[in-house]
Amino acid sequence: MNDRADVSTTLENSPFFMPFSMNRQFKRHPRLLARAEGMHYYTPEGRKILDGTAGLWCVNAGHCRKKIVDAVSRGVATLDFAPPFQMGHPLAFEFAERLQPLLPKGLTRMFFTNSGSESVDTALKLALAYHRVRGEGHRMRLIGREKGYHGVNFGGTAVGGIVGNRRIFGALVTGVDHIRHTHDLARNAFSRGQPKHGAELAEDLERLCQLHDPSTIAAVIVEPVACSAGVYVPPQGYLQKLREICDRHGILLIFDEVINAWGRLGQPFASQHFGVTPDLITTAKGITNGTVPMGAVFMKEDMYQAFMTGPENTIEMPHGYTYSAHPVACAAGLGTMEVYEEEGLLTRVGEIAQYWEDAAHSLKDCPNVVDIRNIGLIAAVELSPRAGAPGARGFEAHLMAFEKGAYIRSTGDILAFAPPLIIQKSEIDELFGVAREVLKAIA
Ligand SMILES: Cc1ncc(COP(=O)(O)O)c(C=O)c1O
Repeated sequence: MNDRADVSTTLENSPFFMPFSMNRQFKRHPRLLARAEGMHYYTPEGRKILDGTAGLWCVNAGHCRKKIVDAVSRGVATLDFAPPFQMGHPLAFEFAERLQPLLPKGLTRMFFTNSGSESVDTALKLALAYHRVRGEGHRMRLIGREKGYHGVNFGGTAVGGIVGNRRIFGALVTGVDHIRHTHDLARNAFSRGQPKHGAELAEDLERLCQLHDPSTIAAVIVEPVACSAGVYVPPQGYLQKLREICDRHGILLIFDEVINAWGRLGQPFASQHFGVTPDLITTAKGITNGTVPMGAVFMKEDMYQAFMTGPENTIEMPHGYTYSAHPVACAAGLGTMEVYEEEGLLTRVGEIAQYWEDAAHSLKDCPNVVDIRNIGLIAAVELSPRAGAPGARGFEAHLMAFEKGAYIRSTGDILAFAPPLIIQKSEIDELFGVAREVLKAIA
């Protein structure tokens, strides 16, 4: 597998049905990553690729960190698996204790899952069940937001707001509605940090309350910064307004922080950065630095207590996964938290955010750029679509960047940047330098 031509002939008929990929295109022209270290991937041919997207927004401490690798190796050799139902193992409790002090004030308890998608469906079920155990089982509606991404399970796909992810799966879950998205190029293009205009868009939730009657609504789920659909930073005051409307009507507010958490905005959680506390937080990815699949849902104390009121010989929450709090994932998570703490990574972004912002916005003069937006260690460059071929320009940029030695993700015609939090200024220059070359080269 050393020669690139060999790789592509090998893969053309591969039985592997790749997720969220153009299978035929990829198998003809594979982009393989064989090894990783720190800020870089290495292809099978040994080409060094600067990781501009922290893998898939998850490798916040950089790749193959020794502490985490050692924790995983020790963990798997000590306890490969332990049943999580009516049984337990010490690392699960230790990890929960380790995470608790990092949570936004008021959130105290947690449920472990194996992915962001599972965290979202778990949070939605927790919201429905919470209302039910309190005698408000009439609250059955779930509200998402246009352009939201909440993973790929049924609940998450239903509350998600990316049409391409929804349209081929039929009616999904009933009782779901969406508030409008906050993307507003006309008023907010080239905003640095939170855009000025659009707090009033949160009032769209009030509209849905009036349409459905608020007493039928269980929860609203949004990503504080909507990342996967193209990086939409919440307008100033918007999240506060959502919180107010939820409070007014007894609706639970869920922040999906699968990407936003773990230092991406300079705090452990985005909620802390924005000063808005939701009732539930969903997360995954950076919780183990992407090494072993794991997710979690964090909730307020009173929510947990509401479940603890029935007879003691009942299972309070009939939900969970064979791999909930898997011992190897807990070991990875503990190793990850150690690295985050030792290197101050959960708050490091504050030190480099201005440099990052200036570097991202330096691409403003490149051809076809219609917007650049950023917050924390996240940036997006939106390109105008080619006539009759939406997404083609963005995808070509992604391909060319890979040829030039940088991994930059494209979502339609939007390029997304979110490197590991260990990035140095020279690497920021290199990343946006490649982006500049690419944008100048593609028509
Ligand atoms: C906000 C958000 N929610 C949920 C998910 C789904 O996570 P996973 O792919 O781990 O299931 C993602 C993945 O990118 C995400 O960004």
